[in-house]
Amino acid sequence: MADSTELIIERERGSTIVSDISSSHDEAAFEVAEDVLLRAEKVNVYYGDFRAVKDVSLDVRQHEILALIGPSGCGKSTVLRCYNRMNDLIKDARVTGTISYRGVNLYDEEVDPVEVRRRIGMVFQKPNPFPKSIFDNVAYGPRVAGQKKGLSEIVEISLRKAALWDEVKDRLNSSALGLSGGQQQRLCIARAVAIDPDVLLMDEPCSALDPIATARIEELMQTIKKDYTILIVTHNMQQAARISDTTAFFTSDVETRNDTRTGILVEVGPTENIFSNPSDERTENYVTGRFG
Ligand SMILES: Nc1ncnc2c1ncn2[C@@H]1O[C@H](COP(=O)(O)OP(=O)(O)OP(=O)(O)O)[C@@H](O)[C@H]1O
Ligand SMILES: [Mg+2]
Repeated sequence: MADSTELIIERERGSTIVSDISSSHDEAAFEVAEDVLLRAEKVNVYYGDFRAVKDVSLDVRQHEILALIGPSGCGKSTVLRCYNRMNDLIKDARVTGTISYRGVNLYDEEVDPVEVRRRIGMVFQKPNPFPKSIFDNVAYGPRVAGQKKGLSEIVEISLRKAALWDEVKDRLNSSALGLSGGQQQRLCIARAVAIDPDVLLMDEPCSALDPIATARIEELMQTIKKDYTILIVTHNMQQAARISDTTAFFTSDVETRNDTRTGILVEVGPTENIFSNPSDERTENYVTGRFG
């Protein structure tokens, strides 16, 4: 499923990229509480009649790394996709509630979803470089945005940010498909940062990588968080504990009467607390490995 949505996004990027996220927002709207960048309020996501997640309210602060953890199927990817309107691209998906970014309701009619995805970029579980050169992969976003000059500089800066420059600087015109999995994932991060986003959504970005490649991506996330706000879904508890500032634990609420499972946010807090002193028993069972 991820593959087809990625393609649609890339096609959308090829169309217009408007200069502003919303023609209706005003400066006052930016004055949200403290340093909250993204705010989800009572978000429900339905796939057809099935409610996948229920009443999720979650704030994300600027320059933090927020980890979303929880058992398979509890709705982590679904929630993550709400933050850049990726669920719009899934047939039958419907989002209710409010998600705001810098005080602007992302689901407002006047907001252009393409611009939302430019500001709030995504890196997927499986590295998905285009079958093009390393250079063309990174230059892709700026090019479709109409940029013609300064591409070499953008490519170099983005590859440096993604800690890949030294490994590829002598082979920029070689196919990206010839890179290792870990290099491909860093290339996808370079491609995401080349369009100068504000937020990066990462859905299990290291699950296909070995421990060394994983460590490089984690290091990279620590370095780039001064420029970005990062939301990461991970099944790796150590990873969440190592890299995130805040952790949100989700689980599936099971309705035995009709055997439906709905994703809920159990608790969110500083990562240290969630792992060492969670307030909910379900969180404790999960982080200590006693779950299911
Ligand atoms: N495109 C879709 N159409 C219908 N149902 C979907 C779709 N995507 C997800 N779901 C359902 O929504 C629920 C949440 O799925 P989601 O992929 O968000 O979970 P997850 O926590 O990311 O799981 P995992 O850890 O396995 O990736 C699941 O019951 C899933 O089957
Ligand atoms: Mg998922």
